[in-house]
Amino acid sequence: MGSDHPSGGKPLLRVLAGETLSRPPLWIMRQAGRYLPEYRELRATAPSFMDFCYAPAKAAEATLQPIRRFGFDAAIIFSDILVVPDALGQKVTFAEGEGPRLHPITLDGGLKRLSDEIDLERLGAVFETIERVRGALGPETALLGFCGAPWTVASYMIAGKGTPELAPSRLLAYRDPEFLQALIDRLVAASIRYLVRQFRSGVDAVQIFESFAGALTREGLERWSIGPIRRIVDGVRAEVPHARIIVFLRASGLGHRLAAERTGADAVALDWAVDGRWAAEQVQALKPVQGNLDPLTVVAGGAALENGVRAVLDAFSGGPHIFNLGHGIVPETPVENVEQLVKLVRGDQG
Ligand code: CP3
Repeated sequence: MGSDHPSGGKPLLRVLAGETLSRPPLWIMRQAGRYLPEYRELRATAPSFMDFCYAPAKAAEATLQPIRRFGFDAAIIFSDILVVPDALGQKVTFAEGEGPRLHPITLDGGLKRLSDEIDLERLGAVFETIERVRGALGPETALLGFCGAPWTVASYMIAGKGTPELAPSRLLAYRDPEFLQALIDRLVAASIRYLVRQFRSGVDAVQIFESFAGALTREGLERWSIGPIRRIVDGVRAEVPHARIIVFLRASGLGHRLAAERTGADAVALDWAVDGRWAAEQVQALKPVQGNLDPLTVVAGGAALENGVRAVLDAFSGGPHIFNLGHGIVPETPVENVEQLVKLVRGDQG
């Protein structure tokens, strides 16, 4: 795997190009985060989470922490999906220990309160973070950018916070689909510009996070999730023809198949509830897959972790696969269990 390889030899990019490797490349969703003591220490130096995201030296350091510790095959830029509404003029705050807070978009003024176009100047820190990390990574480590998918981001903009079953945005989809469509359209345009700029700043690939796919009906999934993601993929490729894109739909069995068939993404990230055998036949037969270990096996450790890793490796060994969790790592995860996970996946067990 020399540097003369078309993907530059980075294992993650080789898999995105369709290669099956004997050991899958590995990274972890939310790999920079509170389970790491060095993250907690660094995070304590910023007054708020958004300040932290907008401080390039700190965000670059947070991005690199898990790479230094575990040697993952990809670094994902430290930021948040909610910087996009922030850069559209809907201020985002994080109440300590409570998650995101936004002033719900529907309460007054609706879309008139939002800017027509995303303010990329406001996100200058993200692009600077990308440049800093790019310069610090070894030649084998891929650099990932990301954004939230429009439905997931719109759901936060509508409810103003996380809501278990997304009642506010689902209800809006029935009561005022034109309004939701206009909001989604604005997010599609914003996400295209944001991702194109991430590629120009130096990321190798991006992941689109549709964390709330599971709340949608089949019709809703097609209209509010798959369709808008397809427009983002096409819009980004119109400007960056070889842009590599991973799409993650959470809690959406059928959605994974639709993502593989219809979004144009290079790879589909699977959540942990999807059966490996089904996904190998229905999804991996069409596109490289990423995933899908249950994050709680890494909290539990021991036999649960060993069995979980083995099942994921076995399910996807016949095709292109990037090892990952089926959703973000949780703050309670013992660092030793992540070390164990890395050993199990790399096969350098004793
Ligand atoms: O390491 C990485 O993966 C890169 C950084 C990253 C963060 N958020 C940092 C973060 C990424 C890729 C995200 C994506 C994100 N953010 C998603 C999609 C993925 C998913 O988990 O479903 C969503 C839905 C969000 C929105 C968000 N950000 C919530 C709901 C919260 C609060 C809940 C929580 O996990 O604390 C955040 C805050 C957040 N984003 C933290 C981190 C490390 C924790 C806050 C802190 O450290 O103070």
